[in-house]
Amino acid sequence: MKKHRDKPIVQITNPEIDKYSEVHTSPESKDIQNLINSSDEELQYIDMLSGRVVGQLLKMIVKISGAKRILEIGTFTGYSAVMMAEALPEDGEVITLEMNLKYQKIAQNHFDKSKSGHKVTMIHGNAQNTIKELNGTFDLVYLDGDKLRYSFYFEQVMPLLNSGGLIIADNVLWDGTVLDPEDRKAEAIAAFNKLVAEDKRVEQVLLPVRDGVNIIRKI
Ligand SMILES: C[S@@+](CC[C@H](N)C(=O)[O-])C[C@H]1O[C@@H](n2cnc3c(N)ncnc32)[C@H](O)[C@@H]1O
Repeated sequence: MKKHRDKPIVQITNPEIDKYSEVHTSPESKDIQNLINSSDEELQYIDMLSGRVVGQLLKMIVKISGAKRILEIGTFTGYSAVMMAEALPEDGEVITLEMNLKYQKIAQNHFDKSKSGHKVTMIHGNAQNTIKELNGTFDLVYLDGDKLRYSFYFEQVMPLLNSGGLIIADNVLWDGTVLDPEDRKAEAIAAFNKLVAEDKRVEQVLLPVRDGVNIIRKI
């Protein structure tokens, strides 16, 4: 797979363990395999896509929690939105926010072609604005875009989240750079992890899975 970011600064897990975990994780559906292949054909880099282990983790959490209404920040080509939609009951929905026109077009094409794609609604525009126009409450929020502003989205979604609801934030180890942040993204993500850890409204577990996944539950 073509890569977008440079080599990791800290190897979070042994690459052979990553591969082993992936091979022993449930395979993606035919729709998802097609989505990966067509994303790879259309774009230069597709490593923004959450990948099988995080994708299956999301799917598993959606099923176990019984979530029905999901918000995603950062659609890209639709991988995680379709993964979560596949785990939802027929009357469930994923609302996903994306501002990049090219990705919006590719993702919508994938939603139209996937069996569970009818459960996904994409809202176009900068999530910093569109998040303020959402109606209703959510059972689960997947935070995977606009890494500089994770703390902003956390504060925005907390009032929209049902009690017992979950926020799952991806890339919270940012290639290990959160240990000694030297750029704005690493600083922002480290500040987000600290904010969450100190917030008494939530409990959370930060898993060193792939690039780090923070699973946050509103008490
Ligand atoms: C890591 S990718 C999302 C990957 C996707 N969840 C998946 O698993 O395939 C992050 C996405 O967030 C989008 N994004 C970044 N900042 C945004 C913003 N302020 N508003 C809306 N979308 C944004 C980017 O265009 C990109 O498509």
